[in-house]
Amino acid sequence: MIENLSTAEILRWQLEAGVDETIGNEPINHFNEVAPVKAPIVAVKTESSAPKARSQAVADRPRTQQGPAVAEKLLHDACEIAAAAKSVDELKRALADYDGCALKKTATNLVFGDGNPRAKVVLIGEGPGAEEDRMGLPFVGPSGQLLDKMLASIGLDREQVYISNTVFWRPPGNRTPTTAETALCLPFVERLMELIDPEILITLGGPATKAMLAETAGVGRLRGKWFTYSTPKLSRPVQATAMFHPAYLLRSPAHKREAWRDLLMIRDKLDELT
Ligand code: URA
Repeated sequence: MIENLSTAEILRWQLEAGVDETIGNEPINHFNEVAPVKAPIVAVKTESSAPKARSQAVADRPRTQQGPAVAEKLLHDACEIAAAAKSVDELKRALADYDGCALKKTATNLVFGDGNPRAKVVLIGEGPGAEEDRMGLPFVGPSGQLLDKMLASIGLDREQVYISNTVFWRPPGNRTPTTAETALCLPFVERLMELIDPEILITLGGPATKAMLAETAGVGRLRGKWFTYSTPKLSRPVQATAMFHPAYLLRSPAHKREAWRDLLMIRDKLDELT
């Protein structure tokens, strides 16, 4: 019985169960929260295949305790709010006021993006980690430091790129964002792409690649190729490519060799486009 345990024992048990941070005084029952919604259907075309809907992961039908109608409404609202933003700053303000995504409740800060809103290159990662949540900026922890080095190796810095994520708040315990969380943030990510209108999109890691490029294969198979990313309001399709996530490269440095090749491919494409 938990009543018989000392505070130290309870804390040890929580640590072993994966609780790595205190986020509030009251427990939150996430089972009572809103859940999966149907994703916006936006055509994405690869070089080699016909247009298809966004990733299966975000295209599942809603299955929520509050019912599909509520989930559809949430998604509809997210699309409308995102579409109304006329600048990157407006989009950031709209997201700061947006309460539809359950991740906001457990996060400390909104992690919207960093870099130059007129950049030619946009990088999209998976979701903020603990350090990003604390600072309110993407990729400022160890994987961010590696990302900065990777960009520097092809002559880029944060003034020449824009960096954001598929979700704008830290998933508790750094878990992968759920289908519902991704689907509700995706209209904002898409609007971000439309407002920046970059030449190149780089997705970092599997979840970002799945959400943005509607590709379900692993990054190991998708990397080193060019795809196109489109939304109805983008002026033209954006050249897109997938790379290993820097956090993965920190864990598996042997793959840095492939990442280096990918960076050179991106440098060549940038030179070609400018
Ligand atoms: N990993 C991500 O995917 N995004 C961040 O912002 C930080 C780490």
